[in-house]
Amino acid sequence: MSEQWWKESVIYQIYPRSFHDSNGDGIGDIKGITEKLDYLKKLGVDVIWLSPVYDSPNDDNGYDIRNYREIMKEFGSMGDFDELLEEMHQRGLKLVMDLVVNHTSDEHAWFVESRSSKDNPKRDYYIWKPGKDGREPNNWVSAFSGSAWQYDEKTDEYYLHLFSKKQPDLNWENPDVREEVYQMMRWWLDKGVDGFRMDVINFLSKDQRFPDGEAEPGQRFADGGRFFVQGPRIHEFLQEMNQKVLSKYDILTVGEMPGVTVEEAKKFTAEDRNELQMVFHFEHVGLGDGPNGKWDNLPWKMTELKEIMSKWQKGLEKKGWNSLYWNNHDQPRAVSRFGDDGQYREQSAKMLAVCLHMMKGTPYIYQGEEIGMTNVPFPSIEECRDIETLNWYEERMKDEGVDSAKLLEAIYARGRDNARTPVQWNGSEHAGFTTGEPWLSVNPNYKEINVEKALADPESIFYFYQKLIELRKQEETIVHGDYQLLLEEDEEIFAYTRSMKEETLLIVCNFSSNAQKRSFGNITDGKHQQLLITNNRKRTGQENLSEVALQPYETFVYKLT
Ligand code: NOJ
Repeated sequence: MSEQWWKESVIYQIYPRSFHDSNGDGIGDIKGITEKLDYLKKLGVDVIWLSPVYDSPNDDNGYDIRNYREIMKEFGSMGDFDELLEEMHQRGLKLVMDLVVNHTSDEHAWFVESRSSKDNPKRDYYIWKPGKDGREPNNWVSAFSGSAWQYDEKTDEYYLHLFSKKQPDLNWENPDVREEVYQMMRWWLDKGVDGFRMDVINFLSKDQRFPDGEAEPGQRFADGGRFFVQGPRIHEFLQEMNQKVLSKYDILTVGEMPGVTVEEAKKFTAEDRNELQMVFHFEHVGLGDGPNGKWDNLPWKMTELKEIMSKWQKGLEKKGWNSLYWNNHDQPRAVSRFGDDGQYREQSAKMLAVCLHMMKGTPYIYQGEEIGMTNVPFPSIEECRDIETLNWYEERMKDEGVDSAKLLEAIYARGRDNARTPVQWNGSEHAGFTTGEPWLSVNPNYKEINVEKALADPESIFYFYQKLIELRKQEETIVHGDYQLLLEEDEEIFAYTRSMKEETLLIVCNFSSNAQKRSFGNITDGKHQQLLITNNRKRTGQENLSEVALQPYETFVYKLT
């Protein structure tokens, strides 16, 4: 497969609202990011993906865009943005924007026109339908609870919103909509941005019959996913976007795709199909989902995680490209979800980093992950800010006999605000994030976990990530080697190899809080071994790998030649 810069890069995601506030209004901003570029440079990342910074009424924190060509007032001005881009490029950093074009805000000028009358030229920019038997046009549920349709009195019709009612879905069947989006994309690319992360991009094409989903007994709403997840024209739309826009620039493209399968991902990312470079799938972060989705938070097994990761590694090996992530602004914190955020926080955060960064694909680090930030036990629903969480809680509380403590427990485990608490920069008030009142409270553990402390400790998680990123630049097997899972049935150890030419990397991760013993003799036999990285200070590199003792959450990588 061909070599490209985005395969060798490590990407850092910034959720601007929570990153760093430069003006004391309690909300992170663009100048705040510019002030921290040297920190990110020190970490060693190559690319920054910015969650949306466009003008927005913030029903969904910027994922509801009112004007694609303006910057959100709370975040600063276009001048601030241009300065950020320039400062990044000067440091050799690339900037990837969030592209949210499945929907806009209901305050976007297109929608304001669209809803004004049935014969407005922009009516068809969105998806309008008359009601059926005095109810919604179909039974689809919104991702943020309730019907996916909103009645609009003015024209006596409903519009589709797969997310909040302030996020009406654009009508991609309309060529004018597509042309407007392409123009807007070119506008940003001509400014010099280096790519797009595309929000729910596999939802663009809807089955034009808009059939009902299959409702559970007694339920009014149903998941309509099979009528819009990889809908009928999705590949056509992305090929058109590629041909008209993406192919004209040397950029990075990654599609966020809930519900995508390996087979579909091959189509989206195969080089000869000219669609996207990589996708975010949701299978590993969906572990433990039940009939009520993530809020069920059921137990899951390590072998399931290994099976999912390996399926994607093998599936895209020669046919596409993986993006690698444990968490982002929609997911709980990696160390809380997949590691141990108590006694073994540091050990397990490092172990998770190795496990992910040694796989084949482009790794993503979510802000704060590099210092091992954790989930937050919000004491009450009043502390939460996320629309998904708040709507779900309100909906559930309508049912009789619901225990609010149980709901909060689920929110603590899986809610999106876990990832959105401000980055913990130091031990001063509000963790040095703001001099004002933060829009979402700081995690109370900020005195213990913060950037200043991490930078002062040569053994910190931060420097471990730094080393991993350096390794990627030195060892081409990390980027291009083939993946092979070891110890498939093991419920504690995630071990695999990456091989290329005469070289093999052996990656071993203990996902348990117990010491373990395993043998890797059949792989290391007769080979020269070099220890590349480990979180076990006592490991010398000379160990006999045919009988190896692992500490709780230990990880190591040996290069065998
Ligand atoms: C996915 C984004 O990551 C999430 O934050 C947002 O709420 C939805 N798409 C809707 O835009």
